[in-house]
Amino acid sequence: MNILLLGSGGREHALAWKLTQSPLLSQLFIAPGNAGTAGLGTNLDIPVNDFNKIKAAVLTFGISMVVVGPEDPLVNGIHDFFLADAALNNIPVIGPARQAAMLEGSKDFAKQFMMRHGIPTARYQTFDKTTISGGIAFLKSLSPPFVLKADGLAAGKGVIICPTLDEAIHEFSTMLTEERFGSASLKVVIEEFLTGIELSVFILTDGKNYRILPAAKDYKKIGEGDTGPNTGGMGSVSPVPFADAAFMELVDKRVIRPTVNGLADDGIEYKGFIFFGLINVGGNPYVIEYNCRLGDPETESLIPRLQNDLVRLFMDVAEQSLGSATISVDPRTSATVMLVSSGYPEAYAKGRVISGSDQVGDSLVFHAGTTFSKATGEIVSNGGRVIAVTSLGNTMQEALEKSYHTSEKITFEGKTLRHDIGFDLTD
Ligand code: AMP
Ligand code: GLY
Repeated sequence: MNILLLGSGGREHALAWKLTQSPLLSQLFIAPGNAGTAGLGTNLDIPVNDFNKIKAAVLTFGISMVVVGPEDPLVNGIHDFFLADAALNNIPVIGPARQAAMLEGSKDFAKQFMMRHGIPTARYQTFDKTTISGGIAFLKSLSPPFVLKADGLAAGKGVIICPTLDEAIHEFSTMLTEERFGSASLKVVIEEFLTGIELSVFILTDGKNYRILPAAKDYKKIGEGDTGPNTGGMGSVSPVPFADAAFMELVDKRVIRPTVNGLADDGIEYKGFIFFGLINVGGNPYVIEYNCRLGDPETESLIPRLQNDLVRLFMDVAEQSLGSATISVDPRTSATVMLVSSGYPEAYAKGRVISGSDQVGDSLVFHAGTTFSKATGEIVSNGGRVIAVTSLGNTMQEALEKSYHTSEKITFEGKTLRHDIGFDLTD
């Protein structure tokens, strides 16, 4: 079958790499893709939110499945768009419909969902412009630090952690009165701060059945030792040593099963990935956030460990036959190091010529933000996160050494990376 994959990051390059290994795939199209995905299929110059152009491409290229990488088109209702169109409604979209994507699209919706279904999460309340004084009173009832979350999508920047009450009151008020995150902060969730170590757990679900995929840990801060501002992710490892069988059993029992059952009880059909952003508080898993997609760069660590045919798994999602699938996982450790542009996550240059991205040796090189120079045809940087380097090893150390070795061979002006991925884990 012909498949259209939406997105342009390292996650999509990793998914494209995996999809093209399936004998069930005829042709892969990626919209818009990057310089890495161009080597695996046909990049289409279509933005992920231009549903009419996506429809035209689906009909022109005989696409019989659409796989959605990022959250934006899901929250904007691409799945619903396909269901509502007679020419498209027989084409499965891997990714939830708009209402289900609200698990990521609205923090308030996600918190209410968790409360309703008894899923462990931080204590919270939601406020808007008319209830600022109530929010201040709630802040005063909590101990520092204070967690403020813009309700809607804010490109990963909508969470503010304030060390003092004064700062929290100031930030909270300006989020609402000055709409600091645009319409995303028309509502603000204030929640209790949880202390523990975070991890990312993923499932694939067909709405009835689900399968747990390898867990991963990502490193969000720009600076070594987890310092400085948050980024989209500077690296990742999989598996997560503390997420052993006993811990994952708790995650399944307390978080995953109640989530899948809760969606069904609420009459919300969900077909696609669910990403549970969890925190381990003294051995107990709590949900920090839901996402309606895979993580990036977690995917770059996770996908190389997955031994199943990914097209077959997606067909099982479409046909609601995931109950008959067995997930098979490479026991080795996978470690991903992200090469980013200097300045990221603030302003950074684009268009820097990248060399050595074909010097992969014992690693996998996934392009995150790359394109071809219009002038010269060379591969150039096109984003803050530029290249993800992943390696497998018998230990985390071995996997990291390989990824760092390959990272040295890839060069571009301003190349920046963290040298301490995995620093808080031992295997
Ligand atoms: P999010 O965008 O929801 O993933 O939040 C960004 C980051 O803020 C998370 O990865 C956590 O490190 C942190 N965070 C969010 N909520 C909490 C919480 N309730 N307690 C502690 N840290 C949190
Ligand atoms: N790496 C975290 C995310 O994809 O949201």
